[in-house]
Order: sequence, then C-alpha cells, then structure tokens
Amino acid sequence: MYSDLVAMLRSLAEEEPAYIPLLSNASALLYDTLSDLNWAGFYLLRGGQLVLGPFQGKVACIHIPIGKGVCGTAAQTGETVLVPDVHQFPGHIACDSASNAEIVIPLYRENEVVGVLDIDSPVFNRFSEEDRKGLEAFCKVLEAMIVWEDAR
Ligand code: SME
Repeated sequence: MYSDLVAMLRSLAEEEPAYIPLLSNASALLYDTLSDLNWAGFYLLRGGQLVLGPFQGKVACIHIPIGKGVCGTAAQTGETVLVPDVHQFPGHIACDSASNAEIVIPLYRENEVVGVLDIDSPVFNRFSEEDRKGLEAFCKVLEAMIVWEDAR
C-alpha cells in the first residue's frame, strides 16, 4: 500500500515539484488513501515557528511554537512522534476534538528540519510501525524531489 502511495507521489513530483502544488496534492493523496483520518497536512517552519501549510481536513491551528504539541515536539527533536492516544500526550494541541491518535514526521532540507507532516485520526492506536515506516519513506521522497521556491 505504501509503495503505491510513494509511486503516486513520485509521479506527482515529476510533473510539478514546486512545494505548494506538491504538498497540496501530497496531503490530498494521504487523506484520500489512508483509512480513518480526520486531518492530513503540513506545517512549515517560518520565522522560528511552525505555520500551517497545505492540508486536508477541518480548519486548523495556524501557529505552533517549536517544542509545543505533537508537531512542535517532532520539529524540535527531528524524530517521528507516534501518539496512540493524544489525550495522554502532554501539551497536545487539540485543533479538532475528533482527533484521538496522531503521527507527525519531520521534513528535512539539507539536514535541517523545515516542517512536519501531521496526520490525525479519530481511532485510538490508528498508527502502527508499518505506518511510521511508510510515512517516513513518503517524506524521504518528498524531501528528495521538492523544490522550495518562493512565490514572487
Ligand atoms: N495536534 C497537533 C496540532 C495540529 S492539528 O492536529 C492539525 C499537535 O499537538 O501538534
């Protein structure tokens, strides 16, 4: 399943690697393909904090300080954070009260974290080690192919 997802991501990135179209379609691909999600998208590092990027799901928090919540923890440590039950995670930021489980994968550019991929589910224990591996592989392809050009 994840190998299909990664193959689809590659073909999207080949057609258009600029970060806004690519991250937009990447969030749509994940949200559409993975079961039992209520949010999938990106936060990007801007001015020392995480700022909401392309996503699918309900209106979400716009600014997340580094070190805060699940996203801020992943950005600070540079490691994936897999949370089986968000209500047990100290400092979890509840954007949507339907969320019960979450996984956040850091996105790197030249060995520095530049954002995170955040996925939320209403199902406790939704994310497994297989999801972690698959989503980390998905992010590696994104990192290798994305063009972080700025809008002019
Ligand atoms: N729950 C996240 C905040 C982002 S929303 O889930 C979209 C967190 O604690 O970082």
